[in-house]
Amino acid sequence: MRSENEKYSEYVSGNIEKIGKDSGFLGLSNVWIRECIKKNYAQNFTWLGRPIIQIPQDTYAIQELIWSCRPDLIIETGIAHGGSLILSASILAILDYCDAVEQGRELNPNTSRRKVLGIDIDIRAHNRSAIESHPMSHKIEMIEGSSIDDDVISQVKHIAQGYERILIFLDSNHTHEHVLAELKAYAPLTSINSYCVVWDTGVEDLPEYFCEDRPWGLGNNPKTAAIEYLKLLELETVNGADGKRLKFEIDKIIEHKLVLTASPDGFLKRV
Ligand SMILES: C[S@@+](CC[C@H](N)C(=O)[O-])C[C@H]1O[C@@H](n2cnc3c(N)ncnc32)[C@H](O)[C@@H]1O
Repeated sequence: MRSENEKYSEYVSGNIEKIGKDSGFLGLSNVWIRECIKKNYAQNFTWLGRPIIQIPQDTYAIQELIWSCRPDLIIETGIAHGGSLILSASILAILDYCDAVEQGRELNPNTSRRKVLGIDIDIRAHNRSAIESHPMSHKIEMIEGSSIDDDVISQVKHIAQGYERILIFLDSNHTHEHVLAELKAYAPLTSINSYCVVWDTGVEDLPEYFCEDRPWGLGNNPKTAAIEYLKLLELETVNGADGKRLKFEIDKIIEHKLVLTASPDGFLKRV
């Protein structure tokens, strides 16, 4: 017999499935997202005191992904003010806390291996000092350099070798060429059943004039890169860092749950 919890979770799945077929509701949300971008709405928020450049719905997705994937390493490209690093670090700290409670032991924050590795081409002094003096800093390591620089990629791969469950967030330069290079470099590090999230795929759904002052835009953005990468994985055999063939599926359930997201078709689940 199904438990009450199972029944509730089936009800929610049905709810999300219905939303996914409701083009009117999804269409309204596209209009809302477009207005948010015009007004720089994603910049209005902080996580534990640090500015984060995400809409709140996507921060919810981050929390759910970290809880369900239980990574020991999160790799993030694009640090900016540090809010997304602090968010990931804080949810990893909650995982540490929950482990300690479940195992009936004292929490010792210094013994956990879980951490976030952030990469940014320009970590400004005021951001670095705020991140380094934050109580979550013990769970954060940063590399300054371009995420597609060979030396940076080898440093990240070297660090990743010591970890078992890896989750990836790509949120740096949003041009097609850059994101495709990031996918080639980092997506193979994603663990099976974990995700490589490509943020800001929604650029592809905006009117062309929205990105006139940016090097990315229609036809040249994270979504076009993600689609090309998925095609490449179909045509060629590419193995993950674990030696198993790399295959990702776009998780539409997360997207239809959020409805409002900056990253339609950007939640790539390694299967
Ligand atoms: C959208 S912001 C990141 C926002 C952050 N993830 C958050 O949610 O708060 C993009 C960042 O990417 C960085 N960036 C731009 N080009 C880069 C590159 N080639 N390699 C690494 N980082 C880069 C910028 O310096 C900027 O800080």
